[in-house]
Amino acid sequence: ADALKIGIAGLGTVGASLVRILQDRHETMATTCGRAIEITAVAARDRSKDRGVKLTGIAWFEDAVSLASEADVDVFVELMGGAGDPAYSCVKAALTRGVHVVTANKALLAAHGIELAEIAEQHGALLNYEAAVAGGIPVIKALRESMTGNTISRVYGIMNGTCNYILTKMEKEGLSFEECLKEAQRLGYAEADPAFDIEGNDTAHKLSILTSLAFGTAIAADDIYLEGITNISIEDIQAASDLGYRIKLLGVAQRTDSGIEQRVHPTMVPHDTVIAQVDGVTNAVAIESDILGELLMVGPGAGGDATASAVLGDIADIAKSRPGAQHVPAFGRPAKALLPYKRARMQ
Ligand code: NAP
Ligand code: HSE
Repeated sequence: ADALKIGIAGLGTVGASLVRILQDRHETMATTCGRAIEITAVAARDRSKDRGVKLTGIAWFEDAVSLASEADVDVFVELMGGAGDPAYSCVKAALTRGVHVVTANKALLAAHGIELAEIAEQHGALLNYEAAVAGGIPVIKALRESMTGNTISRVYGIMNGTCNYILTKMEKEGLSFEECLKEAQRLGYAEADPAFDIEGNDTAHKLSILTSLAFGTAIAADDIYLEGITNISIEDIQAASDLGYRIKLLGVAQRTDSGIEQRVHPTMVPHDTVIAQVDGVTNAVAIESDILGELLMVGPGAGGDATASAVLGDIADIAKSRPGAQHVPAFGRPAKALLPYKRARMQ
């Protein structure tokens, strides 16, 4: 089979990891997927930056939108971030010409996910985004494919590696909030604007995607009670610990008799539970359902390689798919079949 040609916009923490892994594992990926995966085009802002990867022989685009709308690629990989442009225009342009899209951008999906899913369906393209929620944990596939047929009652968990890293370091090493945040940024865990992490917006973006997948509804990222970790002090963490609890930033979405409830806030979790023991950049997502029961997935939630692993899986799925095959809809069911979101009445 012909090689799968991919174009990557964004060569930062995740993009550079992805390029390195695709180059290092070129042969094994070709064997596994039945065809080679070739990076034919890339885009980033600063061409002179050393990214620790070889880019010779790959077309460089000054403008990511040009890459998405003109480059000879089968897959457009969006790793720039941000809910607005250029990410939005790029993804829309690629899907509109039938080019598959892989993205790790939860802010974009929380804002425009259903519209983009509809465009993908209209043009026979795939919109894959496993890396957008809980880093390397395959939670999108679990909800979108493996758990089809289950009625889900609740999805919750630790969905932001930066916040969990900060809370863990403050508790275990007695470091200040600011020192821990700086370290999380140095390690490539934080968003370009870390306010999205520590104020809870990133968890809210991820939760809104999981809510849509779990309950088959439109995304409602604005209907989330939101409280981040900026007011949590070492004294709070110590007081919780004295009472037998650890403080975790949780995202929770549940079905109630009156509708769906979504919230993100620091939560005191009993010390002897699995979630309480999840430390550092690790994430955990629990899904409660009627047929399967409770599924708990724990794993790396941020960082270049962990995130690139999920992006790579999405690319491999496209490489393995047969031409003309029916695609799995981005949000588990055709976009038009998603139910309207109905918020729960407050108690
Ligand atoms: P990053 O390190 O800040 O990299 C962003 C890249 O996008 C940079 O290469 C930057 O170019 C490029 N870029 C930004 N604006 C651009 C523009 N207008 N035109 C062209 N290129 C542009 O970000 P990251 O951590 O890799 O994250 C990328 C995406 O993955 C985001 O959506 C993020 O939320 C998501 N994500 C990240 C992680 C993680 O652990 N880091 C985990 C899961 C999901 P320059 O390098 O030239 O500045
Ligand atoms: N900034 C995000 C986090 C990256 O810390 O979880 C992974 O989505």
